[in-house]
Amino acid sequence: MSSFKTMEWVDGSLLLLDQTKLPHREEIVVCSSLEDVCMAIKEMVVRGAPAIGCAAAFGYLLGIKALLKNQKHKNITYKNHYDILFEGRKTIYQALHKTRPTAVNLEWALKQMEIVNWEDQELINDYEEKVEARAISLLQQDIDTNLKIGEIGANFLGNCSCVLTHCNAGGLATGGYGTALGVIRSIKNRGIDIEVFATETRPLLQGARLTAWELAKDSIQVTLITDGMCGALMRTRKIDAVLVGADRITANGDVVNKIGTYSISVLAKESGVPFYAVAPWSTIDLHTSQGDDVEIEERDVKEVMGFGGNIWTQQELKIFNPAFDVTPEKYISGIITEKGVIRNSRELLDRS
Ligand code: MRU
Repeated sequence: MSSFKTMEWVDGSLLLLDQTKLPHREEIVVCSSLEDVCMAIKEMVVRGAPAIGCAAAFGYLLGIKALLKNQKHKNITYKNHYDILFEGRKTIYQALHKTRPTAVNLEWALKQMEIVNWEDQELINDYEEKVEARAISLLQQDIDTNLKIGEIGANFLGNCSCVLTHCNAGGLATGGYGTALGVIRSIKNRGIDIEVFATETRPLLQGARLTAWELAKDSIQVTLITDGMCGALMRTRKIDAVLVGADRITANGDVVNKIGTYSISVLAKESGVPFYAVAPWSTIDLHTSQGDDVEIEERDVKEVMGFGGNIWTQQELKIFNPAFDVTPEKYISGIITEKGVIRNSRELLDRS
């Protein structure tokens, strides 16, 4: 496992390791309401596709708890109960769904929460407990899936000892262990002294702040580079593979991931370096036919103007700040998942 907890459900609150403060401070943010969780996702206290999904599951639970709290000691009828849940569940779903649009894991997790049956008179009484059990099990399921992906990836990549990664697809971006970094952890656990080159990942520096922090914490060799150095690195050093995460993988095998992923994939192909996306099946969206149909989140231009309150551009400047890009299937050597390594979109459909 990774040596830190990204999130934890303790005494009715969701505790999040504040990713906006890393690597300098390891602070916990306590979320006690649906609104707290929505804010934490929007402001990227918690980020990374699977971690957003897990946090949203607890946000959903907190929303349900608040909804039912006022009714507990009242003698309300089944009909009242039904009406409260009918409307309230929709509001909770929508509040969480609109926090960040690109990672499909958020929607996946909310749909998993919606499966909990609430419409029968007997079921409605212990609905809250069932929702709680569901959120806890989704978090555990994500960790277990990552461990499995790690094993499959380590088996597949064999003696791979030097990789390039982008953004943070680690324990911080998931319930724990990580996807791309999970594979790296599993390779390391087999006694291979794996070396990782991590891009800094402009503009929010998930690579410089988060990937470097979590790899160093788990004693995995990491060297930081700027995003613009990837081509030169792959031309001049022996890089065995590029391993990245994914926010959404569409039916045609396109991978939507952190801005900059596409450029790295093209450079990898040109340099003869295999390029793998590593993701759980909850990242696969077969309802969307291609990457270009996915809504790409555009974030505040201030993120590009500077960092941490330090602005280095002039104030009046036209700025474009998409948070993600699309890597077409043709640049992807494989997608490492808990169901095995998927080579193309045909296999994606066959394994579903
Ligand atoms: O904007 P972020 O930090 O949430 O973006 C994260 C990424 O793009 C990750 O690579 C992706 O979510 C996969 S995490 C296992």
